[in-house]
Amino acid sequence: MARDRKTVLITGATDGIGRALAEIYRARGERLVLVGRRPLDSLNGGLFSEETYCEADLCEADCADQVCSFLRSRKIDALDLAIQNAATGYYGSVASQTEAGIRSIVAVNLLGPLRLTHALEPYVNNAGGKHVLIGSIAHAFPCPEFAVYAATKEALDVFGRNLRVEGDVNVQVIHPGATQTGIHRKSGWQEENASAYPPAERVARRIARAIEGRGSVVTIGLRNRMLRFCGRYCGRVIEALMRWRAR
Ligand SMILES: NC(=O)c1ccc[n+]([C@@H]2O[C@H](COP(=O)([O-])OP(=O)(O)OC[C@H]3O[C@@H](n4cnc5c(N)ncnc54)[C@H](OP(=O)(O)O)[C@@H]3O)[C@@H](O)[C@H]2O)c1
Repeated sequence: MARDRKTVLITGATDGIGRALAEIYRARGERLVLVGRRPLDSLNGGLFSEETYCEADLCEADCADQVCSFLRSRKIDALDLAIQNAATGYYGSVASQTEAGIRSIVAVNLLGPLRLTHALEPYVNNAGGKHVLIGSIAHAFPCPEFAVYAATKEALDVFGRNLRVEGDVNVQVIHPGATQTGIHRKSGWQEENASAYPPAERVARRIARAIEGRGSVVTIGLRNRMLRFCGRYCGRVIEALMRWRAR
């Protein structure tokens, strides 16, 4: 039986691109499941309610169980879209990072999506839906001082690629480029040129369009597509140039 509205799950829906995506799907009248680590009473706006908001810290090993128990409690057995968008980062050398910090980046950016893809596949399958993994062009283009973040994004890309080859899980990987959100500040990077980046709302609109399309790996924006291509296929030259500039 055809359902009259889609059910869309978004992780990292409390800020930045995830929140902007949630606004887009709310405006379309879709049923939302918004996953975030903040307590519900700290969130304002019409987006978040007992019905839509699942509090789950993706650093925790049982995060997928928490999300599934939320779905069961709301009698949701099918997801048209499971958008794995949450991420965290750290700006600085690997040596300056704490072990706990490295673990939390890997947990949120990689282990969380792996666990959730595994746990949510029956729901996505029930709806004939799609998993969407939000990556970053940082997986292909050198991103100095963000090495752990970039490594998790590369691993996410590889995960998506292999699921596609296996063929029984419908998955799309979307790579945005630099966007004006809080992630840079939260990572400890005071980027002076951040105002030149496109706003989260514009990037989210382009991501939503990409989700409607058929591309299995989509990079958002022509400039980012070129950067990703150069990073992928002219990596050594780019790395040498960046090392030379950093001297
Ligand atoms: N902004 C960029 O320049 C850029 C570029 C390329 C790719 N991306 C990707 O775009 C996606 C969205 O990032 P954004 O820029 O919108 O960043 P953001 O504004 O910081 O949003 C990230 C979201 O993830 C949530 N999150 C972080 N740690 C979490 C945890 N332990 N448990 C649950 N949720 C957690 C954050 O929660 P809080 O609200 O509590 O912080 C927030 O809702 C990420 O996958 C990122 O890698 C961003």
